Amino acid sequence: MKLLQGTAQITSSGHLEIGGVSATELAARYGTPLYIMDEAFIRKNCRAWQQAVGNHGKVAYASKAFCTLAMCRLVDQEGLSLDVVSGGELATALAANFPAERIYFNGNNKSLEEIELAVRSNVGRVIVDNFYELEMLEQTAARFKRPVSILLRICPGVEAHTHEYVQTGQLDSKFGFTLDNGQAMSAVKVALTKPHLYLRGMQCHIGSQIFALDGFAAAGKTMISFLADIKKATGVILSELDMGGGLGIKYLPEDNPAQVKDLVQTVVRSVQMACATNNFPVPQLVFEPGRSIVGPPGWVIYRVGARKEIPGIRTYVAVDGGMADNPRPALYGSRYSALVANKANAALEETVTIAGKCCESGDILIKDITLPRLEPGDILAIPSAGAYQFSMASNYNRLCRPAVVFVRDGEAHVVVERESMADLFRHDLIPKAWEKQQERLRVAR
Ligand SMILES: Cc1ncc(COP(=O)(O)O)c(C=O)c1O
Repeated sequence: MKLLQGTAQITSSGHLEIGGVSATELAARYGTPLYIMDEAFIRKNCRAWQQAVGNHGKVAYASKAFCTLAMCRLVDQEGLSLDVVSGGELATALAANFPAERIYFNGNNKSLEEIELAVRSNVGRVIVDNFYELEMLEQTAARFKRPVSILLRICPGVEAHTHEYVQTGQLDSKFGFTLDNGQAMSAVKVALTKPHLYLRGMQCHIGSQIFALDGFAAAGKTMISFLADIKKATGVILSELDMGGGLGIKYLPEDNPAQVKDLVQTVVRSVQMACATNNFPVPQLVFEPGRSIVGPPGWVIYRVGARKEIPGIRTYVAVDGGMADNPRPALYGSRYSALVANKANAALEETVTIAGKCCESGDILIKDITLPRLEPGDILAIPSAGAYQFSMASNYNRLCRPAVVFVRDGEAHVVVERESMADLFRHDLIPKAWEKQQERLRVAR
């Protein structure tokens, strides 16, 4: 079956099994919606990246794709570095005892508190996005008397072939110092004057869910030519080039993404060629993959509920989650496939639209998918659900965020507990002053 990757398989009785554990059993044990992560497959992806990059540089897992204590611990065990983009991700990594020197701190509007946390905990690299941050970081580093190694986020003016909401390298972008108009070179010159900041290199990230590799090659070439310009203008040779993340994954049976090793080879070749042309030493490369590490190993399972048939138009089948646990279809028009975990071998009988349970017409998870006849209680399983779903989940409509389990060799471990109803209003307060008012109202009535 084209939807099965990693350890996922269909048993002879037609049940979906991941990591040797039945998805239907997981649904019964932990409830739905439920995120199921194929641990061996995540580790395999980490190793594929490490192997492909080898001594060309480093791999920093982009934790925004899926960030929990267990995931940070796994990334540490696998020897990767970690990319974080907020104080929250950084705090999670530190709480998991992730070594701070292997942390890259990205983000386009870091607060003073976030910068202080980064400096205090001695993160390996702060990736500075703008002049405001450059000043704030220098002042903070001076105050804490700590040198800070930095990269500058550059907007290389390269358009990746992907959804505009996940394009980041084009000229009109909120991220980084613009190359075209000289802003990036000014930033380099300012950074070099800062006594507590050590400029190690440059970073760029052209976008996410990218299938065509030409954008990465173009970005590599552009960035090397910029490093050569920096050498000419300042005499400084910078030795680190962080190329960000962005490799696409298979969401639909017909998707055919590039392999990790092909992406790495494309970047390495373009960087080596540009270095030869510009007579510049080949820098250490950094890659920040997120989706390609955790996306394919993740599944989300839902329980099927209500059905609405509109003859001649459409049949909606609703599940017990939706845009609250996966906002991607509503946000980007992302498309998914699915199978029925408790009858995966049954004949495909009907074309339906899978609706979420949120009060939004746009809360549609999959439009027009052909599946076996769905009955209430069936378990619908969506593959490639490990990236930017749990991490983007919300409590919209006061829905509880799902649990997450890691499965491996026939065992399941809960790594995030399901939120309870009480969690939903744990931080809510009713103004104290209203209590007296309430009493007065009660007496008046
Ligand atoms: C700076 C940066 N690095 C890495 C990533 C990870 O990208 P992906 O998950 O597509 O590999 C992102 C994602 O948006 C990013 O903004």
